[in-house]
Amino acid sequence: MKRRQIGTLALAASLLAIAPLTFAQNQGKLKVGFMLPATGTFASLGSAIENGFRLYVNEQGGKIAGREIEYVSVDDESDPSKATDNVNKLIKRDNVDVIIGTVHSGVAMAMAKAAKESGTLLIVPNAGANAVTGPMCAPNIFRSSFSNWQPGYAMGEIAAKKGHKKIVTITWKYAAGEESVKGFKDGFEQNGGTVIKDLNLPFPNVEFQALLTEIAALKPDAVFTFFAGGGAVKFVKDYSAAGLKKKIPLYGTGFLTDGTLEAQGSDADGLLTTLHYADNLNNKRDQSFRLAYAKTYKLQPDVYAVQGFDAAQMLSIGLNATKGDAKNITVFEQALRTAKIDSPRGVFTLSNSHNPIQDIYLRKVVGKENVMESIAHKALADPGLGCKM
Ligand code: PHB
Repeated sequence: MKRRQIGTLALAASLLAIAPLTFAQNQGKLKVGFMLPATGTFASLGSAIENGFRLYVNEQGGKIAGREIEYVSVDDESDPSKATDNVNKLIKRDNVDVIIGTVHSGVAMAMAKAAKESGTLLIVPNAGANAVTGPMCAPNIFRSSFSNWQPGYAMGEIAAKKGHKKIVTITWKYAAGEESVKGFKDGFEQNGGTVIKDLNLPFPNVEFQALLTEIAALKPDAVFTFFAGGGAVKFVKDYSAAGLKKKIPLYGTGFLTDGTLEAQGSDADGLLTTLHYADNLNNKRDQSFRLAYAKTYKLQPDVYAVQGFDAAQMLSIGLNATKGDAKNITVFEQALRTAKIDSPRGVFTLSNSHNPIQDIYLRKVVGKENVMESIAHKALADPGLGCKM
């Protein structure tokens, strides 16, 4: 063997010896793919999620597990028919280490399918589609938000406790609306109530008039609804303008009044909703989060910002355990299974199917805030039906 070859071998051997120490540095940038709505009725929700995520990363000096971040983004338009193509841009074209998305349940289900097939890490920072942490669950798929069933179920219990017997539901006809209503029905009917009619319209339509006329004619004790984003703003205003607000109590999942109060004005006053966040929780983590968010973005945070922040936090917990390796799903998952996630919403843990086990709050709109009235259901876990891991 020639001298030069021996030298090269020795150099290679010494590089191998120090490799484990410098692994994180040698992995290069961590590629984070945002798949969120930048247009349409959920656009502001997508932007709050991204703001929350970036806030957490910036608080860590712009790095996660020692790796600098490179962001790439796709606007999913909350359009399920484009979802598979869109997620494959991130997986196949951009070769991202982790996908963060999305808001819309129908889009999220297509993303979960692609993530399961490719093994790419996916953290869902909003969409509640029960299937994502149910039949579609996988070791590499996590949620920092909620399942659609959770806030609906807690509101069903509350509505029954208030003595209502007959309720009409109204929502968009797609997974999030239907599963929120199913959760509500479970909580309400297990406690003696009856849902007398389910009304719906296609997503993202906001022509509510005919349905509001039907509600007036049915004269239920109360109405339960799931709407969010731009649709929630219009529904709350239309419900009030139709003269129903004074006559028939309106209950909803908290998306009805989160991130929407500026636009809803006094039409939202006094509304009761259930959600895993409120504006005055006053725990230490929440106080510093709200201060930092307001300072950075000149905006008040909402539940979507919290879910984005916690998605980054969960990514950080997992990657710290794998020393920055986004392919080591076994160790990543183990770290999250046992983690206590210190969220602005309060500390939460993950269920076996990777969905938050969390307190659901009853909130009341007072001025421009969703003020916590009580804990509607402590440590509520989604049943995770159909998840086999
Ligand atoms: C959903 O489609 O899962 C969804 C969308 C908006 C929300 C909540 C859930 O605010």
